[in-house]
Amino acid sequence: MKHLLSIESLSAAEIGALIDSAVALKAERGRHASLPLTGQCWAMIFTKSSTRTRVSFEVGVRELGGSVMFLSHHDIQLGRGEPIKDTARVLGRMVHGAIIRTYAQADVEEFADYGGIPTINALTDEEHPCQILADLLTIRERLGGWERKKVVFFGDGDCNMGRSWAWAATRLGFELVIAAPPAYQPPGEFLSRLGSGAPVSVTDDPLAAARGADVLYTDTWVSMGKEAEAAERLAILAPYQINQATLDVARSGAIVQHCLPAYREKEITEAVLEAHADAIFQQAENRLHAQKAVLQAIAMK
Ligand code: CP
Ligand code: NVA
Repeated sequence: MKHLLSIESLSAAEIGALIDSAVALKAERGRHASLPLTGQCWAMIFTKSSTRTRVSFEVGVRELGGSVMFLSHHDIQLGRGEPIKDTARVLGRMVHGAIIRTYAQADVEEFADYGGIPTINALTDEEHPCQILADLLTIRERLGGWERKKVVFFGDGDCNMGRSWAWAATRLGFELVIAAPPAYQPPGEFLSRLGSGAPVSVTDDPLAAARGADVLYTDTWVSMGKEAEAAERLAILAPYQINQATLDVARSGAIVQHCLPAYREKEITEAVLEAHADAIFQQAENRLHAQKAVLQAIAMK
């Protein structure tokens, strides 16, 4: 594994190894036997806002012995039109790895192709692989594993999180149901890419989806870049809120997960979020441990 560009590009064995390594790194935080990023400087190029991803990577790189340079697109020539491939060829000669948050998946892939350094997708419109790894770690800690579990994703099923979950279920073989209105379901072209045996189904009936679920998962209805569509999205997605009625039909002991940031009384009620805050903020903390596993796996030796 040279880069982390998507969940789609990982095998089940690679995902399992990353989660195993995250478990170990979490247990030995503050007393790591080796610091694989010693002497390295990693660049973080972000063209979208971030709290969790930025802080967890800045802390994670440092905890593994490296240093980090945060580059907002407002501050570098990328924001004035310098091509990705030129930015990649410059940074590739100076830094030891890149962590990129942007819009187009193709831009992260182009950076990886031209940069010649380990490259991590820190969220694109297409995928958010670092979040999924943290979520899988949380599911292992809370439920003992994802095997034979039913995960339900509520809301904008065609956003980066819905799509990343679809790839995670396809690679790992657990059941995923996407509960979304027709306008926000992943298109047939995407679903057919998953393959005919993929354990992924799509429904517009949120309560039918929630029945017997082990994991109830949601994300904002207005992803970054979609702000102009906010009013329409909030209206159409309203029936897909995670609330007490959703929990009432889920399996007893079901966990609620939210990648955050959360918008109360939109995709989740305040009451459900606060009742499940322990699992949701454990999930946020796990960003740090899961990403340290990624850094350790792909860092130049
Ligand atoms: N979940 C997540 O990626 O959060 P940030 O946008 O704050 O990084
Ligand atoms: N789907 C959301 C995820 C935020 C972490 C977005 O892209 O804004």
